[in-house]
Amino acid sequence: MKKILSVVGARPNFIKIAPIDKAFRKYGKAVSHKICHTGQHFDDCMSKVFFDDLNMPRPDFYLGIGGGSHASQTARIMLELEKVFETEKPDLVIVPGDVNSTLAAALVASKMGIPIAHIEAGLRSFDNTMPEEINRIITDVVSDYLFVTEHSGIRNLRDEGIDNDKIFFVGNTMIDTLEAHYDLIESCSITKDMGLTHGSYILATFHRPTNVDDKEGLEELMQTLGRLANNRKLIFPVHPRTRKNIREYGLATDLSNNLILTQPLGYIEFLSLMRYAELVITDSGGIQEETTYLGVQCITVRKNTERPVTIDVGTNHLVGTDLEKVEKIALDILGGTTKPGRIPELWDGKAAKRIAEIIMEDQ
Ligand code: UD1
Ligand code: UDP
Repeated sequence: MKKILSVVGARPNFIKIAPIDKAFRKYGKAVSHKICHTGQHFDDCMSKVFFDDLNMPRPDFYLGIGGGSHASQTARIMLELEKVFETEKPDLVIVPGDVNSTLAAALVASKMGIPIAHIEAGLRSFDNTMPEEINRIITDVVSDYLFVTEHSGIRNLRDEGIDNDKIFFVGNTMIDTLEAHYDLIESCSITKDMGLTHGSYILATFHRPTNVDDKEGLEELMQTLGRLANNRKLIFPVHPRTRKNIREYGLATDLSNNLILTQPLGYIEFLSLMRYAELVITDSGGIQEETTYLGVQCITVRKNTERPVTIDVGTNHLVGTDLEKVEKIALDILGGTTKPGRIPELWDGKAAKRIAEIIMEDQ
């Protein structure tokens, strides 16, 4: 029996690992797949709701790490994970994405000689000021299976000298989750409950330190969203990092009657809001991909993206962090200047199945 342990910690991790767990279940007793949750994200609305919405089993291990500086958070996860790996002795550790939990698990497993599979390998923003870029590069270097979501990932890994035999272009497990829940997303009542007209509102999320950690920058962002809300209702589920900063800086949130701030939302409700939105404005990684899959216009308020397929093939507009420009392009899109998009190759709901096959067939 193969003993596999997936390590997750933050919101996007849960969404990426859910289909992997389901794919392994099909192999019955040939595999034991366990989940270790580091507790990097811990509010129910950032954690438990995803296990419920995605029908995932409770994590087998919960480390309760919480927040902290990068060094402190990463180090505390490493210390606790070492104990779990020692007792569990997994044959393989799976790590999704690019958060501190991903890096910590990859470092501990590699030093203990445990093979590692990285889901969403090879993505690069080429911006080393992003903590996620450091996490991605280091995780990829020590991984044995590099599961890639888009062609740019293959190129980046080859350019970094990674052995071709380790690279597998399998598609996108975040899109597997979307595809698997599509009917629930379409039939969810949230738009009706919020009094929204399909195709006639904006959905926004922000949590990148570059957009929300600086007081003046965050104030300007809130004012921009407030002005855009004078054109269309704007729903803004506020990430804990952003919520903390809005409170700490004492920023106004009642900038327009049409600017609706909410708690972070569960998966089905949030994806339903995305499905029927006219425009999404975000700095999220995953949301760039989901809007591309759904064919919804997306403005990315960042200087770069590690997911270029969403620009080249999808509906993503990489606008930068100049908020005047963001406002202008948003108004253009609301005025009808939209970008057609297609679904990227292998974003077909079968990535997790491919990953499980590759792992299970490898002796
Ligand atoms: C982390 C990831 C980022 C990812 C994002 C997804 C790193 C370095 N960053 O950023 O790549 O895009 O998750 O959402 O791993 N907090 C709560 N409740 C929670 C979660 C967080 O109050 O449930 C607080 C933390 O205590 C901390 C702050 O929010 O003060 C930031 O959390 P943290 O996990 O350190 O980073 P994120 O900004 O969430
Ligand atoms: N998401 C959600 N509820 C929200 C905001 C986001 O379910 O209120 C989902 C989103 O659809 C995507 C994932 O969370 O599947 C992205 O997480 P986040 O933006 O926090 O992380 P990133 O992808 O930027 O690392």
